[in-house]
Amino acid sequence: MSPLVQVRHLSVGYGRINPVVAVNDVTLEVQANEFVGLVGESGSGKSTLGFAMVRIERPPARILGGIISIDGVDWSTTPKQDLKPHRWTKVAVVLQSGMNALNPVTTISRQFRDVLVQHRFGSPTAMNQRIREVLQLVNIPERVLAEYPDQLSGGMRQRVGIALALVLHPKLVVMDEPTTALDVVVQWEILNRLKKLRAQEAFSLLFISHDLGVVVQLADRVMVMYAGEIVEVQDTENLVARPLHPYTEALLDIARSESGVDMNQRFLSIPGSPPDLRENFIGCPFAPRCRIAEERCLHSRPELLPVGTGQVRCFVRQEGGKVHGGPSA
Ligand SMILES: Nc1ncnc2c1ncn2[C@@H]1O[C@H](COP(=O)(O)OP(=O)(O)OP(=O)(O)O)[C@@H](O)[C@H]1O
Ligand SMILES: [Mg+2]
Repeated sequence: MSPLVQVRHLSVGYGRINPVVAVNDVTLEVQANEFVGLVGESGSGKSTLGFAMVRIERPPARILGGIISIDGVDWSTTPKQDLKPHRWTKVAVVLQSGMNALNPVTTISRQFRDVLVQHRFGSPTAMNQRIREVLQLVNIPERVLAEYPDQLSGGMRQRVGIALALVLHPKLVVMDEPTTALDVVVQWEILNRLKKLRAQEAFSLLFISHDLGVVVQLADRVMVMYAGEIVEVQDTENLVARPLHPYTEALLDIARSESGVDMNQRFLSIPGSPPDLRENFIGCPFAPRCRIAEERCLHSRPELLPVGTGQVRCFVRQEGGKVHGGPSA
């Protein structure tokens, strides 16, 4: 079966003349019913990629090249206007604050109805039934339907946002930092809900977060982004046990030290900072911060190549260099 989402050589820039390339030649796939995590530090290009993939990029962001195919539809060249019928039905988006998706001046009930009516869902009875169903999925009481978004807590708003995203059975849901603004307990509640949802509704999820500790709880497969490029792809279990890229190792160290799993707090943040995307760098963009960088890493740029069951963009690891946490470590 062909993947639900196929992205080929996607580049996204900001600005008209000499655009800052925030997403550089990204190729990726998402399978049907797969949960994929996209992780990286702030500014690595996660949102730019996630938004461009489903064509909600806003100027000055602009697609510079590449192909996006979702469920057999070419999302890269189809005019945005013609993609409208596919919004909510094929692709739905959940952003950081539930407020973004929810209109503050209409009741929750009205917001569900607007989406369902716009897509000619069916009879009022069928609509009510589906609304009740999705609210149950996210554990929201029906009384909330009569309320306005600002009457709800942040966690409830976000769960309503998730219910709304699911109401028309989309094949792909993109969530950009959906739990970042929430406290740890509420965040945990939402992650658990999302895990349970899988058994009840069929959809693929692209879950974007700067927190690898959160991503690994939910994702089947993780894509790690650095300076606009995918630097590692692995299924979650292998990525945690045997990260391939030194950047992933550093992110894992941070996740472990923050969650208290690893008391050996070597990195609380990764020393150094990501490169300025406005400058041209010749070598591996991570090299200046990398603990295993070699001379060649400063002069030539690695490609994303298969290693084991994953992919990595690192000369040393492509040659089978010592893998952190693995048997040879
Ligand atoms: N409106 C903008 N104008 C110009 N450049 C931008 C703009 N928004 C983002 N960028 C550039 O794109 C890069 C990637 O930004 P993006 O928001 O995609 O990162 P992110 O990984 O989602 O970060 P965060 O974790 O903070 O959400 C930034 O480092 C910045 O250089
Ligand atoms: Mg972002």
